[in-house]
Amino acid sequence: MNKKWLLALLMTLVVAVLAACGASDKKDTTSGSEGPTDTNTEDKKVLVMGTSADYAPFEYVETATSDEIIGFDIDLAKTIGEKLGYEIKVENMDFNSLITALQAKKFDIVLSGMTPTPEREEVVDFSIPYYETEQYLIFDKEKDYKELADVKGGLVGAQVSSIQEDLAKEFAEEHGFKVESRNLIPELVQELKTGRFDAAVIENIVAENYLANNDDLAAFPIEVEEPDFKAAVFQEGSPLKAEFDKVIEELVADGTIDELKAKWFVVE
Ligand code: ARG
Repeated sequence: MNKKWLLALLMTLVVAVLAACGASDKKDTTSGSEGPTDTNTEDKKVLVMGTSADYAPFEYVETATSDEIIGFDIDLAKTIGEKLGYEIKVENMDFNSLITALQAKKFDIVLSGMTPTPEREEVVDFSIPYYETEQYLIFDKEKDYKELADVKGGLVGAQVSSIQEDLAKEFAEEHGFKVESRNLIPELVQELKTGRFDAAVIENIVAENYLANNDDLAAFPIEVEEPDFKAAVFQEGSPLKAEFDKVIEELVADGTIDELKAKWFVVE
């Protein structure tokens, strides 16, 4: 009789332990069972990263050679992922839709040269910044613009939902030009080339890339009040933020970020 009880007790314990293991296995994925992390393979947890691959050298596709998304942000995300034990799976989406898709849990993270702003901070969380850039006005060389006032009466382009769009609209009132937005950066450059846009507001690192490859374009820096930081983006309250912040701090301190800049940027 005693033995039977002992056996029953042991069995119950074994079942309980197994169940607990199973449950915690599931919890090991980052955002629950219905998130994008369901794609987990083997032991490495997969983080799905959203990006707008229209932004060389941060994220882009070298269409002549491959359809893979490459760039500074991709290398950075993969370096962070390696340190934390995540595999990073990159998915392309127009810049304009990235935050909504992140909120809808289509992605675990977004790295897309995105700048923390008070409006964005209301709906998502940002990592500590990993980079800072400036703004350029870019235009056909023949325009020979020297300052924003020269664009009076013209049409200036910017990317939909970017801080550059806000800036362009701000300056539009002051300097008497119109603003029109496009979803993708290459569309802006195309409009410059066809002469539909007189100029566009694009950040310096991205603009320099176009200047290096297009003799017919010129640019000058625009003075702005708010700094343009780059940071990784997370769902509100995501535990990933603390993990990423720690690694970004390390990568700034140990020179890895500088190495990535040297690898990807035309200019510092
Ligand atoms: N830094 C700007 C912003 O946050 C523009 C970023 C655009 N990124 C891109 N991959 N197109 O609004």
